[in-house]
Amino acid sequence: MNIILLGAPGAGKGTQASKIAAKYNLLHISTGDIFRANIKNGTEIGKLAKSYIDAGKLVPDEVTCKIVEDRLTWDDAKNGYMLDGFPRNLFQAKELDKFAKVDLCLNINVDEGLLMDRICGRRVCACGESYHITTLNGATTCAKCGGELYQRADDNPETVKSRLDTYNTQTAPLIDYYQKQGKLATVTSGEGSPDEVFAQIVKILK
Ligand code: AP5
Ligand code: MG
Repeated sequence: MNIILLGAPGAGKGTQASKIAAKYNLLHISTGDIFRANIKNGTEIGKLAKSYIDAGKLVPDEVTCKIVEDRLTWDDAKNGYMLDGFPRNLFQAKELDKFAKVDLCLNINVDEGLLMDRICGRRVCACGESYHITTLNGATTCAKCGGELYQRADDNPETVKSRLDTYNTQTAPLIDYYQKQGKLATVTSGEGSPDEVFAQIVKILK
């Protein structure tokens, strides 16, 4: 099964992707994580992506689509995957339809008023886990791997405003795109706890 995880910045795509990956053994592909790894490693893609990510804008489509198309040819993608953060506009969605078969688009719906706090309070680990300061109880290391937690460079109020604007203008139209294809399932409990949201996703996947 090939799934798209759609949702605004901070909706919980990464949080739910790790739960879905653990239960259903699906590969988690996050374009944001791929770009951050490239930035960390100082690659040409990383140098290009950084200016767009810091500004809360989309990295150019030709770069992003090529990365995803290549990634989907790896052996580990043969048994199904989740795309987290891709596609992010209509052009990317149409390109994806040319090189992959999408079974389901899970749209995690969360009240926009919650997103700024969720994102600015997020702490992440290099292993991919995300936490929120309210549930860390002062811990500074990852409960899963012991790695040092840090704040993403784009998790500041100014960049978050721009990311939300980019989402509303460019990504939200994909809801209609997948609705028309009969592939959309909306997670209406996005404001619930991570476990409540996951329970709804499990029901949908059944
Ligand atoms: P990306 O990394 O995809 O970021 P994003 O879409 O802005 O989403 P986030 O990762 O911020 O949020 P999330 O939904 O994963 O939430 P999370 O689970 O962490 O993209 C970053 C940038 O890369 C883009 O701005 C763009 O520049 C570039 N890019 C990426 N893909 C691209 C593409 N396809 N094309 C072009 N450019 C691209 O949760 C957030 C917080 O909330 C955490 O603290 C978490 O603990 C907490 N939380 C989660 N769920 C709950 C819950 N149910 N209740 C309470 N707290 C919760
Ligand atoms: Mg994420």
